[in-house]
Amino acid sequence: MNLSVSTPVSPLRDIPSTDAVALRQPRYTASERLTKIEHIKRLFKAQDAVLVAHYYTDPDLQLIADETGGCVSDSLEMARFGNTHPASTLVVAGVRFMGETAKILNPEKRVLMPTLEAECSLDLSCPPQAFNAFCDTYPDRTVVVYANTSAEVKARADWVVTSSIAVRVISHLMDEDQKILWAPDRYLGRYLQQVTGADMIIWQGACIVHEEFKSEGIRRLKQEHPEAAVLVHPESPAEVIEMADVVGSTTALIKAARDLPNTRLIVATDRGIFYKMQQAAPEKTLIEAPTYGEGATCKSCAHCPWMAMNGLHNLEQVLETGTNEIHVDEQVRIKALRATQRMLDFVRKD
Ligand code: 13P
Ligand code: SF4
Repeated sequence: MNLSVSTPVSPLRDIPSTDAVALRQPRYTASERLTKIEHIKRLFKAQDAVLVAHYYTDPDLQLIADETGGCVSDSLEMARFGNTHPASTLVVAGVRFMGETAKILNPEKRVLMPTLEAECSLDLSCPPQAFNAFCDTYPDRTVVVYANTSAEVKARADWVVTSSIAVRVISHLMDEDQKILWAPDRYLGRYLQQVTGADMIIWQGACIVHEEFKSEGIRRLKQEHPEAAVLVHPESPAEVIEMADVVGSTTALIKAARDLPNTRLIVATDRGIFYKMQQAAPEKTLIEAPTYGEGATCKSCAHCPWMAMNGLHNLEQVLETGTNEIHVDEQVRIKALRATQRMLDFVRKD
């Protein structure tokens, strides 16, 4: 039996528009930018620090990560990399749950973030108190949460998963006849239910970026470019996922861009991914999936406003001052570690 229920989603706090965030960032001349990048690279060395960046962050941060032995990746690989790298300081460029995951796994390391304001709408949609009450209603279910959640929510979970392993974990739990309570992304939850046939109760959160992709716009683009393949992140609405040639995590989409024979690719995920995707597939034309058209309401239009808060200026500042350190209450951390470590152990078996 497949089940899906609606739960009240907490009102999201004011969501900044990506344009407003961009306007707040300092502007540098070409030579100032290069000077800053070189200075930041020296700071990483001096601080015994390493940069762990998500694909959606500023290309300059991705470049610094590449050139200083850091990593640019999806959320699973960010967690794995931070967990195995010997540096005493991890600087996590992304959103808060990524910094918290690093701290949950590495309590002995200093974890810094360029900004502590970078939220995630999925995390915000799932406040711990309401989530605990939700779990209490279904005590017979295995609680599986997306990594895009707070440490408190992870502390209540049996499993943490990212988009790159969610299908495999849910299939594994199905093989064990387990019924699942999933939170917080309703689109990813529905996709998992559809692919695996699992019995799932689904929290009704959403990513404000992926929710805005429009199937009608993609259909029109496909008419213009019938040879193009459609790559979709599973946080997108069902009708967009249905149009996909490939559905997967950010890393899976980059690999698909490289490996597919198509020379044009319509990409339904944050446009920050284009930096690495174009490096992986330099001869291909990447087309941003539309967020405009009928019913369009996006303030973030294919670029996460919180990811956009990470820049050269605050990366430099955090390395110079050691501010913006991530702390997780030790009791919460120990509980959250159980489900988070289970995720890493699961992929280690590969
Ligand atoms: P990935 O783990 O696929 O990189 O997704 C993280 C995320 O926040 C996507 O919006
Ligand atoms: Fe969260 Fe969406 Fe931003 Fe990813 S893109 S961090 S899911 S709000």
